[in-house]
Amino acid sequence: MEIATVRTAPIAGQKPGTSGLRKKTRVFMETHFLENYVQAIFDGIGGVEGKSLVIGGDGRYFNDRAAQVILRMMAANGAARAIVGQGALLSTPAASHLIRSRGTDGGLILSASHNPGGEDADFGLKYNTPNGGPAPEGVTDRIFEATKTISEYRILVAQDVDLSAIGTTTLGSMEVEIVDPVTDYAALMETLFDFGAIRALFAGGFRMRFDAMHAVTGPYAREILEGRLGAAPGTVVNAQPSPDFGGGHPDPNPIWARDLVDVMMPEGAPDFGAASDGDGDRNMILGKGVYVTPSDSLALLAAHAHRAPGYSGGLKGVARSMPTSGAVDRVAAAMGMPCYETPTGWKFFGNLLDDGKVTLCGEESAGTGSDHVREKDGLWAVLLWLNILADTKTSVKDLMEAHWRTYGRNYYSRHDYEDVESEKANALYDGLRAALPSLPGRSFGGLTVSSADEFAYDDPVDGSRSERQGLRIGFEDGGRVVFRLSGTGTVGATLRVYLEALETDPERMGRDPAEALAAIAEAADEMAGIRRHTGREGPDVIT
Ligand code: G1P
Ligand code: ZN
Repeated sequence: MEIATVRTAPIAGQKPGTSGLRKKTRVFMETHFLENYVQAIFDGIGGVEGKSLVIGGDGRYFNDRAAQVILRMMAANGAARAIVGQGALLSTPAASHLIRSRGTDGGLILSASHNPGGEDADFGLKYNTPNGGPAPEGVTDRIFEATKTISEYRILVAQDVDLSAIGTTTLGSMEVEIVDPVTDYAALMETLFDFGAIRALFAGGFRMRFDAMHAVTGPYAREILEGRLGAAPGTVVNAQPSPDFGGGHPDPNPIWARDLVDVMMPEGAPDFGAASDGDGDRNMILGKGVYVTPSDSLALLAAHAHRAPGYSGGLKGVARSMPTSGAVDRVAAAMGMPCYETPTGWKFFGNLLDDGKVTLCGEESAGTGSDHVREKDGLWAVLLWLNILADTKTSVKDLMEAHWRTYGRNYYSRHDYEDVESEKANALYDGLRAALPSLPGRSFGGLTVSSADEFAYDDPVDGSRSERQGLRIGFEDGGRVVFRLSGTGTVGATLRVYLEALETDPERMGRDPAEALAAIAEAADEMAGIRRHTGREGPDVIT
């Protein structure tokens, strides 16, 4: 077969962000855009000659076309083998597992996660390393460098590979193995959790609703929850993946998964509710009449993980991203295990997991996971919750309330100001950064600042340093506000303001979070001038 060597030139803006390269789908579809980036990945990792890669994505618009281009480019660059999910589908955690279990040289994941899909929405591409995790900054820096010097790419002149049937075929001299996206992942879950106990829970009349949000987790949740665990048919809703996620926003939070919240709040609601995002790595947890914040979920899972067979020996340690609440820290302290604070983005957990320093980790942005893969894992979190519910025979609400009584409650909320003009967002952020040294001792909205710094992270495993990872301001009463600019957006800037207030008085643990956080929110606006800089009266999204 003929290999075409195509002349090209660098395309500006191919810098990977928090989680790979995310752009408007139409940008990815522009001439040479995808091809340049794929060749830069290959060049940035030292070529793919003789290598094997896992390929799959969340099924969003352009997923199928991009997968074919990647396969032809792999073949032209001398790759030995591609392992592809049937229909070019793989959830992000399932891709991570395949990379690890099959010992490949990494993988390419086609996804923009929880961002909407479609021709006018978002697309993304991410390289994961052989440990199954998102490429660390050293690797993404090399990829970015390669995008700036690229002069040609190689692609096979060939027909599309039929990805609809499981089996092995060839493309040029490369083997293409098409695998069922669910089988290996489901088998892994069976090794971690007590499926018998969860089956008994469902058999006893326990009711659940899982909203797959028209995204990739649908087939996984159907097979595992309804197929293997005996949840009632119809437990999984919106289970059919669609290229535009049913026209929705596949982000499992109380805003975008409103339907699920509405089902879970009234009398007579199911016992347990959950949702996952576009590529299946995020999760949302609800009980009858209660929403569990991701930070609280992480803390509760850390406290109870030993109930699941995969974690019965206890946890080596835990890690959370810096803006995530300190709830898990309190569990770690009580249980005498180490707790690490990392920058935002799952890639920072990779070394800690690889080195055996932590077993469990999580982010406030609905991401929880463990050392079973190197990505966050939505369905895994749901199964761990189910295992805990089956073992404790307690409701989500009672479990959470008991948790707060034991460890204290970290009220928590994130305010997002989306699509802010970059200059305005930068002016706000740079202004606050410059003011940091002067903040301690000053009062805002009645709260006195006790500490203020810009977060930098020294990786304890490889010694690398990551600077400029967010501004954090602590208050004397244990509260905190963090400011960050998003690294995953595709238009303008998104300002994220993370609010946290610690409550240790059991009498005050049942408050409305918005009320408990009102003073911190006021202080945040006063110190950063959010309204003044952005011209916005309030956040666009509160989670
Ligand atoms: C966001 C989340 C972050 C998560 C990332 C990828 O990044 O805040 O926790 O790891 O998406 O899912 P951000 O847009 O804040 O850079
Ligand atoms: Zn995701």
